[in-house]
Amino acid sequence: MGVAGSPFDATGRLAWGILGTGRIAGTFATALASARRGYLLAVGSRSAESARAFADRHGAKRAYGSYDELLADPDVKAVYISLPNHLHATWTLRCAEAGKHILCEKPLASNLGEAMVAIEAARERGVFLMEAFMYRCHPQTATLARLLRERAIGDVRQVQVAFSYNMRGPHPENIRQQNPSAGGGIMDVGCYPASMARLVAGAALGRDFADPLDVKAVGHIGAESRVDEWSSAVLRFEGDILASIACGIQVAVEPTLRVFGSEGSIYVAQPWFPGRDAPGRVVLNRDGREPDTIAADAEVPLYSVEADTVADALAAGLTQAPSPAMSWADSLGNMRTLDLWRRDVGLVFDVERPAALVNRVSGRPLAVRPDARMTYGAVPGVEKRISRAVMGSMAFSHGLPYTCALLDYFVEQGGNCIDTAYGYRTEPMVGDWLRLRGNRDEIVLIVKGAHTPDCNPQALTRQLHESLERLRTDYADIYFMHRDNPEIPVGEFVDVLNEHHRAGRIRAFGGSNWTIERITEANEYARKRGLTPFVVSSPNFALAVWNEPMWAGCIAAVDPASRAWYQATGMPIFAWSSQASGFFTGRFRPEDAGNPAIAPIVRTWFNAENFARLERAKELAARRGVTSAQIALAYVLSQPLSIFALIGPRTIDEARESLGALTITLTPEELHWLETGRSA
Ligand SMILES: NC(=O)c1ccc[n+]([C@@H]2O[C@H](COP(=O)([O-])OP(=O)(O)OC[C@H]3O[C@@H](n4cnc5c(N)ncnc54)[C@H](OP(=O)(O)O)[C@@H]3O)[C@@H](O)[C@H]2O)c1
Repeated sequence: MGVAGSPFDATGRLAWGILGTGRIAGTFATALASARRGYLLAVGSRSAESARAFADRHGAKRAYGSYDELLADPDVKAVYISLPNHLHATWTLRCAEAGKHILCEKPLASNLGEAMVAIEAARERGVFLMEAFMYRCHPQTATLARLLRERAIGDVRQVQVAFSYNMRGPHPENIRQQNPSAGGGIMDVGCYPASMARLVAGAALGRDFADPLDVKAVGHIGAESRVDEWSSAVLRFEGDILASIACGIQVAVEPTLRVFGSEGSIYVAQPWFPGRDAPGRVVLNRDGREPDTIAADAEVPLYSVEADTVADALAAGLTQAPSPAMSWADSLGNMRTLDLWRRDVGLVFDVERPAALVNRVSGRPLAVRPDARMTYGAVPGVEKRISRAVMGSMAFSHGLPYTCALLDYFVEQGGNCIDTAYGYRTEPMVGDWLRLRGNRDEIVLIVKGAHTPDCNPQALTRQLHESLERLRTDYADIYFMHRDNPEIPVGEFVDVLNEHHRAGRIRAFGGSNWTIERITEANEYARKRGLTPFVVSSPNFALAVWNEPMWAGCIAAVDPASRAWYQATGMPIFAWSSQASGFFTGRFRPEDAGNPAIAPIVRTWFNAENFARLERAKELAARRGVTSAQIALAYVLSQPLSIFALIGPRTIDEARESLGALTITLTPEELHWLETGRSA
């Protein structure tokens, strides 16, 4: 859904509204006066007096005593959010819901979880959204990225950059020294070097940006401020590009950017404020040559360039500005980097603690949306209907705000089944979320345990008790033994599982990666003794056929004999790696086989047959107007089996794509063609 009509007025100009009357709001308002195609129409403040004074100072016609009033003004087309960091996501969401285009101050949110929610709101409403890294809009930054893409200094190996200034002691009234405002050096200024390092590494790798494979950081947290006051981090990117980045609010560090490569270096004296004290320029030092100073200045001041970047993107009908300005994926990558930086430093914001996460970014209670298009199935012994998309929880190690964002989205789309495991170490996140949302009774919780080498009845019992405690519940709807141990007579497992079943700790149970022979043996044992049998199974099932199991002891059920058995018995399958580790996104190509970063995927999924299936999935996707990853998931869900697909999205965006597969039904002919390339 897009915003109807042109955002520009009859004179071709963009009417801006500003939320907040603080320091940077003033800077931006001044800059709008020099922008090519924008002007300040209105300002909104918590106080009517402050709004009036600001409007008078900057020549704005309208002044509102609340942010909501500004959003209700139909003449305001674009909103600049200049509020403290902890309010960015909420007001981005509200602006999006009001149909306003948005320029939001950096960082886009308090953390990755909030940022995903904010971006999803913009995507859904079809409004423009950009995180206000003004330096990314300036020609100096574009010149830097171009030189790196052209390999002007060969392979990039080291990057050094800082943004750090000195507030000279305590200023508790300043939002930068307030933990509740998500302040501190990393958020206020560390986000710049993080975004610069990601841009440099990305350009060096021929992309718009890159995300670090490792983040290692240290820092000092103030006892009074409870935020980081100075800190350093080292980021490692693909190709072992390393970046040393620093920030602080109680020490001034020279901001210079230095990029060192195999054939020279690049030097930028003023990476953040090009054109402020001196014109934008990039110094290129190529080994054995004289330094080359490349001028790269803008016609208007820095923040005016930023405002024009928004207007130009809107004129081009875009919802995201082109690189090197911040795209949504770029902002999410930066937020993830900042989260990891803060994790090492030990900085948690009050807004990230469970007590605060009771309130969602939208402020609304969690509910299934009326337009949700989930489908459901059943498992004997589980009274609730079960969403056929099952949310994996491995990625939840990123933290509780992130877990809340993903799980809330899943539930809004009609999802109710969550797959956990003793070995994932993320059960506390799910437990906290269940408690915050108060929805344990509506959720179908899968618990897995007894993974090798602890695959025995005693460990099963111990781990089950621990899992339930971490999940803050007294039962699992479905329990899977994560692996089998053929050295233990199957009856011992059936007996212990029945014990937990009788005690009400598990409502239904089965095996993950159990062979059909062992399941049959288990159920024969149960039948003879009048015990409860295995009623579910969790093997791998995907459009791709693996070369060898991804992990030792894993079982797939895609061979004809397994399919026939599951069809004949009707035993529900919870298919793991239902998307073959993202193989069908098309992001892997046969020529990537030597890339060490994806070695497990190459080992498991790279073969000529799978690449042929990928091509067919792409072809069918193009015909259906969907993505190849959706076709691959629809392939699993369209089987003539009782089948549920485990999905492991890392972002809301990926979750939306996966859930979109639930509405795609493939015919038996299409299933056959995807597998063989032949019509049935
Ligand atoms: N891009 C840049 O160069 C740059 C430079 C500086 C700051 N920033 C970013 O801009 C944002 C604002 O920074 P700033 O320096 O302008 O801050 P500031 O001077 O403290 O202004 C923040 C404004 O937010 C409003 N506000 C709403 N709730 C508030 C609360 N609980 N506490 C304090 N203020 C509250 C206030 O406006 P009303 O009272 O009018 O509602 C206040 O004037 C931050 O996210 C920061 O990271 C960016």
